Amino acid sequence: MSDSILLTGGVGFIGSHIAVEVARAGLRPVLLDNLCNSKRGVVDRLGQIIGTPVDFVEGDIRDGALVRSAIRDFGITSVIHLAGLKAVGGCRCRTTTTMSWARCACLKR
Ligand SMILES: NC(=O)c1ccc[n+]([C@@H]2O[C@H](COP(=O)([O-])OP(=O)(O)OC[C@H]3O[C@@H](n4cnc5c(N)ncnc54)[C@H](O)[C@@H]3O)[C@@H](O)[C@H]2O)c1
Repeated sequence: MSDSILLTGGVGFIGSHIAVEVARAGLRPVLLDNLCNSKRGVVDRLGQIIGTPVDFVEGDIRDGALVRSAIRDFGITSVIHLAGLKAVGGCRCRTTTTMSWARCACLKR
């Protein structure tokens, strides 16, 4: 079985392009995204482009239990971290932005 690569924010602009390249490299992309700045339909479209359904976990990277279970369940060997907010002021996640970054910092410890 090929290596499984977890792409946090994998449904977003950069993540979706990387997902295609990961698949082209013979690896298995697994997308984890809370869809705060992307759409579920992208996952299906990626499956059409890649030629096989793409594994997708809907959730937030600040949910440590979810991230751990995704790593375990999909046998993740590498992570490419792309889940992030481009700009604090302009993002649809604005209402949670300050708390988001604070909680991310806590999870790293
Ligand atoms: N696009 C660029 O030109 C560019 C340039 C330099 C750096 N970056 C950085 O690269 C990263 C990705 O950029 P992008 O253009 O693909 O952005 P994007 O908004 O299209 O993709 C980010 C994805 O992360 C998801 N996300 C955000 N917060 C999340 C969370 N807490 N948990 C799970 N998913 C979450 C969003 O739903 C989205 O699908 C960002 O951190 C961005 O700042 C982007």
